[in-house]
Amino acid sequence: MTGGSLASDPERWPYAADYNDPLMAALYDAEETDTQDIALLRRLIAAWRPAGALLHILECFSGTGRILVPLVADGHRVTGIEMAPAMRARAQAKVDALGAEARCRTTLRVGDVLAGEWGAGYDLVILGGNCLYELPDPDAQERCIALAARALAPGGRLYVDNDDYHGQWAGPQDRELRTTFEGCGPDGSYGRAERIDLAFDDHTQVLTMLRRWYVRRPDGSEVRREYVSRKHPVTAAEARAWLDAHGLQVVGLYGDWQGTPHAAGSPRAIFWAEKPRD
Ligand SMILES: C[S@@+](CC[C@H](N)C(=O)[O-])C[C@H]1O[C@@H](n2cnc3c(N)ncnc32)[C@H](O)[C@@H]1O
Repeated sequence: MTGGSLASDPERWPYAADYNDPLMAALYDAEETDTQDIALLRRLIAAWRPAGALLHILECFSGTGRILVPLVADGHRVTGIEMAPAMRARAQAKVDALGAEARCRTTLRVGDVLAGEWGAGYDLVILGGNCLYELPDPDAQERCIALAARALAPGGRLYVDNDDYHGQWAGPQDRELRTTFEGCGPDGSYGRAERIDLAFDDHTQVLTMLRRWYVRRPDGSEVRREYVSRKHPVTAAEARAWLDAHGLQVVGLYGDWQGTPHAAGSPRAIFWAEKPRD
């Protein structure tokens, strides 16, 4: 594949990427194996609640269950909201493998988090794994924080974990083709996801990307899809302002998954915030 030019009327995806393909979900799982954020989350829970306390947890953008499934395994009652049925299906298979009791404690919904049907009374809401980067603008991101505040029980906690954007986008010259996922699925299909950054709007701080998804099946047939998507890289200051605006009190702010306090230049901005009791 060559070049980054756009068809005159390209397909558009409202968020940063479309994950709804079983092969894409399998490649995601093969690639995204980090567990350091889960270890941090477990440490934060342990320092907050008595040993063995079982929580009612909501994870939005729950994907294939990378974060959610270990929390189910810990005994918590967990709900996930995920837009892509193919990603949700992998999470469900992992929960099923934990057994009938774990399955009863887990609800995996397919839906758009911006539709706002999150439920209420959660002890913990998780917006992890760079999920705000899935959204195209600050209004949508702030809406997630507002919905989280509404979904939490008084005294409940919100975990928000994203890169802390420091303006790394190099500019129009940064238009090289990047492979984001590549590999073979269980049936021998080969898949490759690619991205080209097209433009960064300095005023709105929105990055527009051309995405390509290519599949070659064992019988030689091919699928090619090309679409334009957008994301808004989030700064720590933005996330902090949204938490303040929606009445959530920051009780911890970390710059990495080791739990180092956040400082200027930290790679991540990981907020641990509480919904006050009154
Ligand atoms: C990068 S994955 C992260 C999954 C998981 N949280 C993790 O850390 O491994 C982002 C997921 O968010 C989902 N997603 C994106 N926009 C969404 C939306 N508006 N509502 C629900 N899910 C969404 C995508 O389908 C994808 O599965």
